[in-house]
Amino acid sequence: MLSLDQRLRVHLEGALMAPWMVMLGTAFGTEAMKSWDDVSQATTQLHPQLQEAWREVMDALSWTDSALGGFFLQRAAAYGVTTSYTQTFLWTNELLFGDGSWLWRNGPGKAEIHVDRTLNVWGSGGAHQAYFSHLDQVVKDVFNAPLDEQPLGLCDMGCGNGALLLHMLKVIESDTLRGSHLDEWPLMLVGADFNQEALVATADHFRQKGVKGHFIWGDIGDPDQLALDLYERHGVRLGDLMNVRSFLDHNRIYNPPIIDRPEEPVSSGAFSFRGERLKLRNVEQSLKEHLMKWSAYVAQHGLLMIELHTVAPENAILMQGKLPATAYDATHGFSDQYILEIPVFDSMAAEAGLDMQMEHSRTFPSSLPATVSLRFFRA
Ligand SMILES: C[S@@+](CC[C@H](N)C(=O)[O-])C[C@H]1O[C@@H](n2cnc3c(N)ncnc32)[C@H](O)[C@@H]1O
Repeated sequence: MLSLDQRLRVHLEGALMAPWMVMLGTAFGTEAMKSWDDVSQATTQLHPQLQEAWREVMDALSWTDSALGGFFLQRAAAYGVTTSYTQTFLWTNELLFGDGSWLWRNGPGKAEIHVDRTLNVWGSGGAHQAYFSHLDQVVKDVFNAPLDEQPLGLCDMGCGNGALLLHMLKVIESDTLRGSHLDEWPLMLVGADFNQEALVATADHFRQKGVKGHFIWGDIGDPDQLALDLYERHGVRLGDLMNVRSFLDHNRIYNPPIIDRPEEPVSSGAFSFRGERLKLRNVEQSLKEHLMKWSAYVAQHGLLMIELHTVAPENAILMQGKLPATAYDATHGFSDQYILEIPVFDSMAAEAGLDMQMEHSRTFPSSLPATVSLRFFRA
């Protein structure tokens, strides 16, 4: 166990270095900085005074040309999501002791206050890549099936910067039956998102890679509206596509449950909506009702999802430094997001009629308690 001094030092180092790494990473673009040449290229994008300061920071940490520095800089995107919530952290005093709905004082159509969305989708697009390769087996199974039984394409709700769709396309192209028949059986790629910044980031990313896609506004809490918009604008039924998403269901806007849940709650989390503490049984039931809305649209081709979860406080204490639970609970807890524990999430999905395909499902780490799950559901 580290001493208090050492722990403070480590946390302070993280808080000071994360913005630097993210600044450099975003200056480099959507790819990771894999070499010192990449780092130099990113550094030259900075203002000369920042370049000077950056050199001093690197020297102070002995990162210059070192394996340690290279290790961190290659993983700059891993710091993107937490850094994107800087505004939320700046307002924690207000959120805890004043107006709990302070972050939501923006009007409809105005940019979000709690998060720097462009930075957030850059960070998640980079950091989540590590999980995307674990979806490959499902993608291969689905797109190696007889061509006339396959989905028309993919619909990624909350597409961020489009990284998941582009990853799946690559697997389909290189490793499936569909990939060798794309001329006769083209693959429709739909990126849906709640934020204009994300749709712009996705369109840019697709353009960089020379890939065609359809980008459409969508709310994860309202699949019926997405289905309608998709049909009206693109002539395609949502259920004819394979629905995929990563790190999103917890991000939906909270809807109070329609039905009172009689069962005792199981979750150990703490959740609020616009400053009001929520009853756990309502958070659980709300998730179940949310998943029920999707079941008709995933009946034919399934729902492939990666999701984020909290862990019980007693597990978080035991696993300090081994799970990203503290950062995730802070960013998500303060900004009205609902990361329920894996067993709770799975029970609500089962109650909602979603049938988990065990051979294509896993958690990260592989045994519980874990903070990330991969699930392939059929309804
Ligand atoms: C944490 S990111 C996940 C992005 C991407 N799926 C990934 O894994 O890298 C959240 C994304 O969901 C979008 N989002 C947030 N709330 C949403 C909602 N209610 N409906 C649809 N998209 C939403 C955000 O704009 C952002 O692009």
